[in-house]
Amino acid sequence: MTYDQAKEKLEKFGQEHLLKYYTELEEGQKEALLTQIDETDFSAVDACKHMEEIGQKGKISPLKCMELPEIEAEKERFRAIGLEAIKAGKVGAVLLAGGMGTRLGSDDPKGMYNIGLTKDMYIFERLICNMMDVVNEAGAWIPLFIMTSDKNQVATEKFLREHAFFGYSADYVWFFKQDMAPASDYNGKVYLEQKGVISTSPNGNGGWYASMEKGGVRKIAQDLGVEWLNVFAVDNVLQRIADPVFVGATIDRDCAVGAKVVRKNAPDEKVGVICLEDGRPSIVEYYELTDELMNTKDEKGDPAYNFGVILNYLFRDKDLKDMLDNDRLPLHVVEKKIPCLDEEGNPVKPEKPNGYKYERLVLDMIHELDSCLPFEVVRNREFAPIKNKTGIDSVESARALLQENGVEL
Ligand code: UTP
Repeated sequence: MTYDQAKEKLEKFGQEHLLKYYTELEEGQKEALLTQIDETDFSAVDACKHMEEIGQKGKISPLKCMELPEIEAEKERFRAIGLEAIKAGKVGAVLLAGGMGTRLGSDDPKGMYNIGLTKDMYIFERLICNMMDVVNEAGAWIPLFIMTSDKNQVATEKFLREHAFFGYSADYVWFFKQDMAPASDYNGKVYLEQKGVISTSPNGNGGWYASMEKGGVRKIAQDLGVEWLNVFAVDNVLQRIADPVFVGATIDRDCAVGAKVVRKNAPDEKVGVICLEDGRPSIVEYYELTDELMNTKDEKGDPAYNFGVILNYLFRDKDLKDMLDNDRLPLHVVEKKIPCLDEEGNPVKPEKPNGYKYERLVLDMIHELDSCLPFEVVRNREFAPIKNKTGIDSVESARALLQENGVEL
């Protein structure tokens, strides 16, 4: 892209200021900036001007969840169905590791965080240990697809290779990268991170399937005969991955997606709640849950919206075709701390949020599907997310939960 073409593109989106320092740049930097302008989709930034229209929900009603007693009664049958699918190579796992982990505050990818106390115990290692339980039980490797981003691809791959994938077979691991989206101030002006570099951040975990396609690994999964994809977050160190009982239950109930859920520990707990929206499966975020919904009771007198998602979903591949068009999913405008330039053009790392990032989220995929099985898991056995260093959902709380489950740290 030439300078004039870049200027023209930027003018269309009101982002001409991104060329402010162009004349100060060296030749290579100029070229890199023009390429970045060419490749960046600035239309997403418009979303911050229509925030009130975004995320308008339809009519919410309860979605029945498969609760623990029901699972217990059919556990062995579900397990047999799940193991059969895993042994036949029909189940793949997708690790969402493209996030920035800003709340944890480490410069390294989150999975490289060492949560050990008396020995090294990396988050990635913990997840692989959890997968190995199933690999050993099934006597079969589960293809593992790892999503990274431009910001952490090199470090993630290097770290996992250096640690020989913590015992996982390298023949069953593939990496793919998600796209980046521009980050802006509160008025929708995209920030520069350096004089010749636009501030960008990973475009949210909702693009995983489209990015699998773009990265060529969707084809690999299909060629391997994978029919189900267990998508999971990098930060829940207790979660069961490709859990045969969960896989078996979702297959048995013939659902397009299974969602692991936990019983909420308080009506106002900050988790997305599974429900129906206009008759289709959906998730209401905690900040969208009105008092009326929070206080609605089911026929047993329990809260009707009582199960929170934990970012562990089992998607049926054949139902995901429409998701290749990422734009179907709504854009979320998220307030974040964005590295940028100060008035004098010096790079700064802000202490407080200073603008918006634009993301698509995996939870919105649920609403695009016809059927969903919410599958209850015991919270203290399967939910130990690491979002922060201390306090709620932190390294500290996750360590305590791991120890409660007999994991030596
Ligand atoms: P979070 O929403 O907790 O975001 O991600 P994060 O980036 O890890 O952390 P903060 O908000 O900056 O502190 C939930 C899961 O989705 C993945 C994360 O890696 C994590 O597994 N994710 C998030 C992506 O893969 N890509 C993204 O763009 C965002």
